[in-house]
Amino acid sequence: MRNPFRYGRRVKGESFFDRVTIKRDILNVLDGGNNVVLFGPRRYGKSSLVGEVLSDLQEQGTLCAEINMMDVASLNDFVSRYAKIVYRATAPFAGAVNQVLGFFKRVSPTIGLDSEGKPELKFELSSTKAGISALRDVLELPEKLCPEGKRMVIALDEFQEVAELGLKVQFERTMRSVVENQEKVSYIYLGSKSHMLQRMFASKSRPFYNSAQKFQLDRPPEEESSAFVTERFKSVGLSISTDLSSKMVDLVGNVPYYIQALGSWTFNAVNGTGRKSVTPQDVEEGFSALYAAERILLENTFQSYSESQRTLLLALATEPTNRFDETYRNRHHLASTSTTNTALKRLLEASAIEPTTSAYLLADPLMVHHLKTIALD
Ligand SMILES: Nc1ncnc2c1ncn2[C@@H]1O[C@H](COP(=O)(O)OP(=O)(O)O)[C@@H](O)[C@H]1O
Ligand SMILES: [Mg+2]
Repeated sequence: MRNPFRYGRRVKGESFFDRVTIKRDILNVLDGGNNVVLFGPRRYGKSSLVGEVLSDLQEQGTLCAEINMMDVASLNDFVSRYAKIVYRATAPFAGAVNQVLGFFKRVSPTIGLDSEGKPELKFELSSTKAGISALRDVLELPEKLCPEGKRMVIALDEFQEVAELGLKVQFERTMRSVVENQEKVSYIYLGSKSHMLQRMFASKSRPFYNSAQKFQLDRPPEEESSAFVTERFKSVGLSISTDLSSKMVDLVGNVPYYIQALGSWTFNAVNGTGRKSVTPQDVEEGFSALYAAERILLENTFQSYSESQRTLLLALATEPTNRFDETYRNRHHLASTSTTNTALKRLLEASAIEPTTSAYLLADPLMVHHLKTIALD
């Protein structure tokens, strides 16, 4: 039997559930010619949602391009990758090649062959030609190459990483000044470092201030999640009780990535036994396998924080709060108020914790499990 759960890469079609309202709202904003910024913790399904948005748009005839800033090594690399995605999206329309060659003065595009032997444009930047003006040129390309009467949407994933290109606010300033005059092109900015992105779009002193409609991706409704789990098992002829599928969702804090991963490991536990229904023991086995698979990553992530941040994470994992009074600090070996506040700020910046009305919660439910486990050791 084929495993009905998918994780680790973007999902679509029958592997994708919920997100109906937010998807419609995003499409409406784009349809009105406006930009979108979408943030939310990693593994909640931002990239998958944007993938669905783009494929809907493409079906309606909108040109689409996307770039993941995590893949970008330098400013030069951004310029050539961006030229490539814009060229690919507009290539079906006559004249794109000539226009790229004409417009893109600072870059010398050459036509080479890709791995399948098909002709492909290559963009090579000489270092002397790099910099802000090359950036400006490449950012202007979409509006220039998008045919009259057509619209184009460009998604920039993990957009907060532009800060790593070493231009500081100059990238933002350049991009804002170019894109605010574009009429055919809308942008979707998305990323997992919610704080950084929010600041970029919500503080008055930043170039992107108020330039995009904000969307926050939360966890899906729990009933939708457990209905999804039930349906996925059913698609391969396995039944599961409503109680058990909601327990599965609960175990992983209703985070889409973990729902699929736990589903997958649980499926492995049942598969081959000849049984037709999922038991609590299968789920237990699935969860242990999931934790074993994630453990090294969790350990490395935990170790990447400073000592005071680790102490605070441990405290919040075992006793969530938003009031760090003296008794709480003593109980959890937290240092002074100011040290705790600094650690808190850093953890929020890193999106490791999320504020709720009653407490700061760890964004990653498996990290909570991990820290509770090591606290007992
Ligand atoms: N709408 C969804 N339906 C089902 N699974 C999802 C959904 N969104 C995300 N997932 C699961 O979460 C994983 C991570 O999704 P992704 O879109 O890469 O998240 P993000 O970009 O927020 O980090 C996917 O591989 C998939 O297993
Ligand atoms: Mg993503």
